[in-house]
Amino acid sequence: MDPVTLVLRWAHVLAAIVAMGGLVFARFALVPTLSDVDEATRDRIHEGVRRRWLPWVIGAITVLLVSGLLNFLIFQVRVSPPRESGLTAFVAAIAPGVTAEGWDDGRWMRATNYHALFGVKFLLAMVAFYFASALVGRGAGTQWVRNDRAKWLTVTLGLTVAVVILSGWMRQLHTGPAYDPDRGTAMAAGADEDVN
Ligand code: HEM
Repeated sequence: MDPVTLVLRWAHVLAAIVAMGGLVFARFALVPTLSDVDEATRDRIHEGVRRRWLPWVIGAITVLLVSGLLNFLIFQVRVSPPRESGLTAFVAAIAPGVTAEGWDDGRWMRATNYHALFGVKFLLAMVAFYFASALVGRGAGTQWVRNDRAKWLTVTLGLTVAVVILSGWMRQLHTGPAYDPDRGTAMAAGADEDVN
């Protein structure tokens, strides 16, 4: 098991838990509870929560972006056939344990639509990051988001749920033995003897 990939995975999953846990708490506990108190108290509590939660949101977004991008690049090299490129050199430098395995003779990414799934996931995550930042920000340009917190918390939560569904799908594409039952081929180079 490659230790760099493992650490990146831990970081990615923990950051997702922090970010989504905060959204669930805010949407289903904090906002409904504060709707019962007077406006001045509500604003004071929102401001206190906003200030304290802001570093967590920035931290979670940073960790998700960095770990997700590195994870994607490392996986890209692992799945592809061995070749010399800037990306291969970069991945060799940060994750020396990862080798190019050339899954399905280099056709695996296209056969599984992995890039398309990643692209949609990435776009949804960017929109979720925008709303998550606006909810803890204080700029005039994003005030419209905070004017209806319950609604935009629900939207942000929905986006992150879609992101997790897509992530699980992507993960499932390469879980289990490195073997594609539909194509009857081994995905890992050199594994043909084990499956045929
Ligand atoms: C709302 C933000 C995000 C959430 C909630 C999220 C959640 C997840 C989860 C739950 C997994 C599965 C982890 C596992 O099974 O080990 C995952 C995997 C992954 N994520 Fe994210 N993620 C987010 C943002 C991002 C971003 C911004 C990127 C890219 C820059 C990214 C790239 C990846 C990659 C490449 C994987 C591996 C998928 C695979 O197993 O093939 N994620 N993410």
